[in-house]
Amino acid sequence: HERTYIMIKPDGVQRSLVGKIITRFEERGYKLVALKLVHATQEHLEKHYADLKGKPFFPGLIKYMASGPVVAMVWQGLDAVKTGRVMLGATNPLQSPVGSIRGDFCLAMGRNICHGSDSVESAEKEIKLWFPEGVVQYTSTMETWIFE
Ligand code: GTP
Ligand code: MG
Repeated sequence: HERTYIMIKPDGVQRSLVGKIITRFEERGYKLVALKLVHATQEHLEKHYADLKGKPFFPGLIKYMASGPVVAMVWQGLDAVKTGRVMLGATNPLQSPVGSIRGDFCLAMGRNICHGSDSVESAEKEIKLWFPEGVVQYTSTMETWIFE
């Protein structure tokens, strides 16, 4: 199955939303295959957001992302990348539907509490960047109740 890189940003950690966000992915039926709490360096975050270099909000984004620890995760399951983004909501929380993570828990674009890969290619790149040691392979006993 497909894998996506999901990250709880420093505001999500500080606001004690880690458990709630993890629970949403668990309850939907996705399988956790990698997880760690890291205080990332600006250098590392600049690599993560390399596509946005040059945007006016880029320096502020890096400062925000480096302001505290983040929870780095890889979730695996059917259509993980696209459905993961739907579960997060829109980039702007004010445009995120109620029921999505951003639509339920935040208000400002520069404090939108979570990140999700935007394509299968970005997911592969981000998983390598955050988990160079690789992800964990294991069998989930619930799989036959979640997938046909
Ligand atoms: P990520 O999942 O974090 O990658 O968000 P995204 O894919 O929905 O949006 P994008 O990759 O375009 O931007 C990355 C992050 O930069 C966003 O999540 C916001 O935190 C921030 N950002 C994007 N656009 C703006 C903006 O116009 N103003 C501000 N202040 N922040 C922005
Ligand atoms: Mg993005």
